[in-house]
Amino acid sequence: MDKLQVVGGKRLEGEIVISGAKNAALPILCAGLLTSGDLELSNVPRLHDVKTILKLLAQTGLAVSQDDEKLTLNGSAITTLEAPYELVKTMRASILVLGPLLARFGEAKVSLPGGCAIGSRPVDQHIKGLQALGAEITIEGGYIYAKCKKLKGARIRTDMITVTGTENLLMAATLADGETILENAAREPEVTDLANLLVAMGAKIEGIGTDRLVIQGVAELHGAKHAVISDRIEAATFLCAVAATGGDILLKNTRTDYFDVALDKLREIGLVMTMGPASIRAQMGGRPKPVSFRTTEYPGFPTDMQAQFMAVDTIASGSSRITETIFENRFMHVQEMNRLGASIQTEGNTAHVKGVDRLVGAPVMATDLRASASLVIAAMAAQGTTIIDRIYHLDRGYDRMEVKLSAVGADIVRIK
Ligand code: EPU
Repeated sequence: MDKLQVVGGKRLEGEIVISGAKNAALPILCAGLLTSGDLELSNVPRLHDVKTILKLLAQTGLAVSQDDEKLTLNGSAITTLEAPYELVKTMRASILVLGPLLARFGEAKVSLPGGCAIGSRPVDQHIKGLQALGAEITIEGGYIYAKCKKLKGARIRTDMITVTGTENLLMAATLADGETILENAAREPEVTDLANLLVAMGAKIEGIGTDRLVIQGVAELHGAKHAVISDRIEAATFLCAVAATGGDILLKNTRTDYFDVALDKLREIGLVMTMGPASIRAQMGGRPKPVSFRTTEYPGFPTDMQAQFMAVDTIASGSSRITETIFENRFMHVQEMNRLGASIQTEGNTAHVKGVDRLVGAPVMATDLRASASLVIAAMAAQGTTIIDRIYHLDRGYDRMEVKLSAVGADIVRIK
């Protein structure tokens, strides 16, 4: 199992090119199931999760040809309407094939995703929404069996805001008969990117970017060309890294218009940012100032940045308070950061962080994707050497993070 060895205390300087967004690429790749036409995609990140979803899609009969970050999908010969447990258990986003398969072929068998390190993460809203569209759904032997003659438009209000739930229902509704109204829809930029692709494929969707999506079903969708948006979480992770270590970096292939409150919080920390049309220059000198926040759905503070900001807070010049409201168990990194000398105490879904003068390297274990990234940041800020175990989590969602960071001066190597 690969590990990362990080020697802390290095200032970051140079350029980093941001990759395509994982959480936009995954649903967009599943949209290839909705048409027999060619879907030509670019800016697809090189990630383990992308490999997993491609493996799953290839099993259905979807043809995939790949040239680095460019991919062409063709769904004219789909033969298998199934997502097996072996793949779904490794990646929950596999549930995103359910809506497209059902809408286009009237049938799907998808394994129920199991538990997850960050919370129980049920998919009841996906199921409830598809039932509202007329699907007959049974759950047996750990599988969701879904069937319909033709989905029929409906008004659906999910009990909570769900990102992949919105994406699944949106994709299903594009091929349903009549009008579907999705209320309480997720507004994350990744949902918007998927909706823009679907429109390019011939879908009729109004309210894109809002919490009320109105979809007029069409008989079929056609092929399209689309560039996946750049990854705001990857970009913000590197911004946290420079806030923790000090330095001067230029992020390229990024955007500045969908960064939620994370950029404001980075300014509060003391990071000086200069925005270009597709770039952010970030400069940091001195000790970070503490920031408190509460995670919420977009456009609020993203849960996917909670751990990385906590890493910066551990060495800030004061105390902060972090509340996680999206997932019930997303503080697994706390114990690991405390092993590096951080002073964090949790109380329910709130973490109280007392900034310390210094962290000291130690062996730590990554528990999930964003926790892994936060440990890389903490390790880069710590004195001495940190070994981070179980970094397969990191490879799921960051495109060669250690290569990008060493190119800007970090002392970080992968140990096979
Ligand atoms: N929920 C339910 N029932 C459902 C669906 C969701 O109870 O049917 C609950 C969840 O348990 C959670 C909350 O609703 O407490 C929100 O979950 P959501 O469905 O929005 O999460 P997701 O769609 O499974 C996506 C991202 C996550 C990101 C969350 C929140 C993808 C592939 N994954 O997950 O990304 O944290 O939205 O923004 O888009 C990551 O990239 O590290 C990651 C975990």
